[in-house]
Amino acid sequence: MEFQGNITSKLPKTGTTIFTVMSALAAEHGAINLAQGFPDFTCSPKLIDLVTHYMQKGFNQYAPMPGLMKLREKISAKTQELYSAHYHPDTEITITPGGTHALYAAISAFVKEGDEVIVIEPCYDSYVPAIQINGGRPIFAELKYPDYRIDWNQVKKLVNYRTRMIIINTPHNPSGITLGAQDMQKLEKMVKNTEILILSDEVYEHIIFDGLEHQSVARYPNLAERSIIVSSFGKVYHTTGWKMGYVMAPANIMAEFRKVHQFMCFSANTPIQHAIADYMDDKDAYLQLSAFYQEKRDYFLKLIKGSRFKPMPCEGSYFQLLNYGKITQENDVDFAVRLTKENKVASIPTSVFYNKKNDNQVLRFCFAKQNETLEQAAEKLHKL
Ligand SMILES: Cc1ncc(COP(=O)(O)O)c(C=O)c1O
Repeated sequence: MEFQGNITSKLPKTGTTIFTVMSALAAEHGAINLAQGFPDFTCSPKLIDLVTHYMQKGFNQYAPMPGLMKLREKISAKTQELYSAHYHPDTEITITPGGTHALYAAISAFVKEGDEVIVIEPCYDSYVPAIQINGGRPIFAELKYPDYRIDWNQVKKLVNYRTRMIIINTPHNPSGITLGAQDMQKLEKMVKNTEILILSDEVYEHIIFDGLEHQSVARYPNLAERSIIVSSFGKVYHTTGWKMGYVMAPANIMAEFRKVHQFMCFSANTPIQHAIADYMDDKDAYLQLSAFYQEKRDYFLKLIKGSRFKPMPCEGSYFQLLNYGKITQENDVDFAVRLTKENKVASIPTSVFYNKKNDNQVLRFCFAKQNETLEQAAEKLHKL
C-alpha cells in the first residue's frame, strides 16, 4: 500500500537516527552494544517499588500540565542547594517526558521562520531537525579535534540580528568535554545587550569527573535570566526508557514553553513523577553518580590500555571517544560498521554528529555498562 499523492518532506535530509541504526546492526550481528547511550544495568529496586506503589494506589491519570507540584518543589530545592539559584516551582519549572521532548518544545516555542540558532557541533542529533522543522536556520560553530574546546571568537562572529538562540551542552555528548567558568563568562559577555536566548542542555549534570564542578547556567544570573535548562531523570536514575525530565527557565520564558509543551504531550507520566519526588530525598543517588561513572570510565580505560585505540580526554558524560588512526585509514562510518559486524562491538562514528561529517577517525563508546560487558568489549578491541 502506498499513498499516491505528494509528500513533501519537512526534513528531506534527515534519515533514521544513527543510534537506531547502530543498535539494530548490533542486534543483527550479536555485537556488544556500546553505541547507544543507555545503561545495561538496572535502576534502583526502591525506585521500581515506588512506581509500583503509586500505580497500585491509583495514581494513573493525567498529572497537572506543568508536572506534580511536589516534584517541582524538590527540583527547586535541589537547584537552590547545588547552584544557589532560585526557580519558583509554580512558574519556572516544568516536568517533561524526557530531555528530547524538552529540547524540541523549547525550540518550537521560540524559533520562528528565518531565525538563526547557533549550534556547536558535534552535537546531540535532535537539535538540528528541531530547528529546521520550525523554519529556523542552524548556524554551525565547531569543536575542533582533538581538544573539542569552544572557540568563542568563532561563535561571536556568527552572532547577528537574526540570532534567536544559542544551544550549549555540558557535559558534552559526544566529546565528554565540559564547559568551565571561563566559558560561561565569555558567553555571558557575548550575549549581554542582545535578545539571544540560551538553550542549555545539562542532561549529564551529575556525571562529571576528576573534581570538576558542573557549570550550570543557573549559577550565572546574567545567563539564567535568558536560559532554558534541560535535565533528564533518565540519565540520573538509570531509567532512560522512562522518558522523564524537566525544564527550568524564568517565568516569562516558561509561560511560552508551556504553551507548546501542553499541546505536544499535555503532561508527563504520573506514577513515575510521584516516585521520583520521593526518591529525590536520597541525595546520594545523584551526588554519588559522578564517582560511580568515573570508576566505570577508569575501568574501561584500564581495559583498553595496550590496544591500538587512543583515548581522548573525557571530563563528563558516559561516553569515551577513541581514535583508531593506528588501526586503519577507513572512514569512521565504514569502520564502525565493520567493527560491529566482524569484531562484534558497536560504537557510534563521531562524524554523524557534524553537519559537514568531519571525520577524525574517532568512535564514541558508551561505558554505562556492567564491568563484564566492558571486559568483553575490551577483549575484542584488543584484537584489532
Ligand atoms: C546531549 C543529550 N541531550 C538530551 C538527551 C535526551 O535525553 P532523554 O533521554 O531524557 O530524552 C540525550 C540523550 O542521549 C543527550 O545525550
